[in-house]
Amino acid sequence: MAVLELQNVTYTYKSATNPAVKDVNCVFEQGQLYAVVGPSGSGKSTLLSMMAGLDLPTDGEVLFGGESLASINLDRYRRESIAMIFQAFQLFPLLTILENVCYPMELCGVKPAAAKPRAAELLESVGITKEQMKRFPSKLSGGEQQRVAIARSLAAGARTILADEPTGNLDVSNTENVMGILKKLAHDEGYLVIVVTHDSEVAQMADVKFEMRDGVMTEK
Ligand SMILES: Nc1ncnc2c1ncn2[C@@H]1O[C@H](COP(=O)(O)OP(=O)(O)OP(=O)(O)O)[C@@H](O)[C@H]1O
Ligand SMILES: [Mg+2]
Repeated sequence: MAVLELQNVTYTYKSATNPAVKDVNCVFEQGQLYAVVGPSGSGKSTLLSMMAGLDLPTDGEVLFGGESLASINLDRYRRESIAMIFQAFQLFPLLTILENVCYPMELCGVKPAAAKPRAAELLESVGITKEQMKRFPSKLSGGEQQRVAIARSLAAGARTILADEPTGNLDVSNTENVMGILKKLAHDEGYLVIVVTHDSEVAQMADVKFEMRDGVMTEK
């Protein structure tokens, strides 16, 4: 089933003359891991931020479940429908690992008593131990922090994961581990996962690979 669809999507920054994203058309289905690969400045993050509802296209349309993002509540879409992961993990430094994952659930109105076991379950599913859950983020390795960020991104129940260079700060074995988790979420649990990367090795691990060049996207 098509989850996200881009129709003639173009984005031109206010200060720019040339579009950063040019007339992109594609369909993203659930249960698949996609990679968008391309050099620095080719428009990957710009594309991702439109799929995340952070920006609307200056031309064309992004559809989620057949509905245009231009006609829905984007705050709610970002909070409930989209899980985002970044290169720089972005965990809250003064919250424990468990509290980091509880936080988005509590924002959605889940009581702490219900949030805690669910957070622990999500953390266990990405290989974080009970002992590690009590630590602060700075007391975990980079690979572990990124796995916590994945668990946290899923806490609010979103089924679409958008990841911007999720392995950019990781070594080869942690890269394989994180990509393995994302692939499993797609294949075994039916998530739609889109990973943006400049690393062609990472892109090789995806089911479907797109390439961005100067704002133009083609399937590889
Ligand atoms: N806020 C902005 N204002 C003006 N131009 C921007 C802005 N953000 C990005 N750009 C430009 O848009 C183009 C695409 O940028 P984008 O960040 O999407 O590239 P990218 O493929 O994600 O690159 P990287 O691999 O370095 O993250 C670049 O030419 C960039 O300079
Ligand atoms: Mg980028």
